[in-house]
Amino acid sequence: MLKKRSLIAGLALIITSFITMDIAVAAGKANWKRGRVYYRMVCTVCHIQETGAAISPNSRTIAEWKAYMAADKHDASGKSKPKVSDYTSKAYRESIKGSNKAAKKFLKMPDAALFADVKAFVVHGAKDSDTPASCN
Ligand code: HEC
Repeated sequence: MLKKRSLIAGLALIITSFITMDIAVAAGKANWKRGRVYYRMVCTVCHIQETGAAISPNSRTIAEWKAYMAADKHDASGKSKPKVSDYTSKAYRESIKGSNKAAKKFLKMPDAALFADVKAFVVHGAKDSDTPASCN
């Protein structure tokens, strides 16, 4: 009897967590952990390749990152793509999926959601956050 009850309680818990997850997704809650994977495997890999150094989330404040992502201008020099969101777009993921595992893994993600995840990661790891993050 006791077993049956705990089984039901367990099932209820699983169902509740699925519902909660759905709500989080429906509400468009950004996933900074997914953003971290993408940032490290796509953004950082290129920064190291092209400039010789990573750009760590903890190199900027929360306000600076929010402003940077809201402006959506990748870099002022114009050497690379004009928008940050160009690098989270499906078209970009498609173009590098053969050599980049993160691009392949997140290929089907809607552009806006992946952009929000990357933003959530840099804000989460900003230097004045509770959890400053480097790239390594
Ligand atoms: C294909 C290569 C490449 C990719 C991919 C890339 N970047 Fe960059 N990024 C660069 C280069 C090159 C620079 C430095 C440009 C310069 O000389 O100022 C840069 C600079 C930056 C800067 C500093 C800009 C400034 O004005 O201070 C930030 C922040 C940045 N990138 C964020 C990102 C984010 C976020 C992503 C991923 C969504 C990303 N980058 C993906 C090549 C890339």
